[in-house]
Amino acid sequence: MTETPAPQVAVIVVAAGSGSRLGHAEPKAFVSLAGRTLLERALASVFGMRDPVQVIVVAPDTHLAHARRVASRAGGAASVDVVAGGATRQESVNRGLAALHPGVRTVLVHDAARALTPAALCDAVVDAVQSTGHGIVPGLAVVDTIKKISAAGEILGTVDRAALSAVQTPQGFPREMLAAAAAAASAGSSLEATDDAGVVAAAGYPVSVIAGDPLAFKITTLWDLGRAEALLGARVPAHSAPRTDTAPRVGTGLDVHAFDDDSELWLAGLHWPGERGLSGHSDGDAAVHAICDALLSAAGLGDIGGVFGTSDPRLVGAHGDVFLGETLRMLAAAGFRVGNVTVQIIGNRPKLNTRRAEAEALLGSLLKAPVAVSATTTDALGFTGRGEGLAAIATALILPEPPADPDLSWEA
Ligand code: CTP
Ligand code: MG
Repeated sequence: MTETPAPQVAVIVVAAGSGSRLGHAEPKAFVSLAGRTLLERALASVFGMRDPVQVIVVAPDTHLAHARRVASRAGGAASVDVVAGGATRQESVNRGLAALHPGVRTVLVHDAARALTPAALCDAVVDAVQSTGHGIVPGLAVVDTIKKISAAGEILGTVDRAALSAVQTPQGFPREMLAAAAAAASAGSSLEATDDAGVVAAAGYPVSVIAGDPLAFKITTLWDLGRAEALLGARVPAHSAPRTDTAPRVGTGLDVHAFDDDSELWLAGLHWPGERGLSGHSDGDAAVHAICDALLSAAGLGDIGGVFGTSDPRLVGAHGDVFLGETLRMLAAAGFRVGNVTVQIIGNRPKLNTRRAEAEALLGSLLKAPVAVSATTTDALGFTGRGEGLAAIATALILPEPPADPDLSWEA
């Protein structure tokens, strides 16, 4: 992997509320939604953003260690700052702001309670902040007719809904605007704002609305939690519904790379000095890529091209540990562990038998499961027989994990 610059974007995930309207014993962000906490699901979207970001989780001070465990599970190798929240949402945001890295220019504030927010909405907010230079909030048109009423419930009039937007998070701002507005709000004794756009607008800065996403709805009541569970069950039964199924799943993956005399050979996670290399955006390790495809398809998570892309600058020359580590993290987030994997390499060279045990040990340790590596030639037929390149074909068996993870359950 090449050295990546410090992120210019930070996401503050506020998760320090108690969730009084939800009525669970534990704070809302630590309530389970189809086997994963709201915080873990919210963080999965943040880590699904296009570019790396600084992630700050603001958690109740009773749950800092728990939040760290959830964050490291969701973030894999990426580091996450966890800070204690305050008595109000605004105070929690301020605590998060204090943890921003110096190089951050754009700040998103996101409610952990909006656990199903798509990563693409986070990216859209970042893009809009950076292109306009002012505050951006996602919002949805209001569909109900809205009435203004008296304290006694008498209807006083109808509000023009065309002029209304129901706003969501993540809300994004140039750092200096949010910081200045937050400082001004703390200094004054103004009414507690329920969102950051309110704070920033009160300080006189422009804030605009972009199209929100219905999936970014806030989980406030038990009814909302039920709606979220139903959506997960209906939309992505393979990997996000509660793990009531116990049957293993299988997947297949195939990858091909052409030989390239200017590259070093990396295959089955190993460096092969003196052998012809393979072309590719990453290190061209066809065996590892076939394994990733087999694992992703077994879990119903798409394929390696869709997950990693074919032009991400962070993946130039990346080796198998990067791909396998991220694939394993995604499987775990979807509720699976690896049962076993087999991969067969098809080509004339390199001769695998001398290093088979080494390759199996390395891949097995990366996937925390048995991996078998085999090889074959094609009797001089086809592109592998002519020595133009290598193919690899993999089969993966994955196992659903039980819903409750004892390591992540909260003990007082
Ligand atoms: N939040 C926070 N610190 C607070 C209050 C709220 O970090 N002191 C966070 C919540 O964790 C949530 C988001 O702000 O992710 C939106 O707040 P809300 O939905 O109102 O959550 P709660 O305050 O936890 O719920 P309730 O108002 O029902 O108690
Ligand atoms: Mg609240």
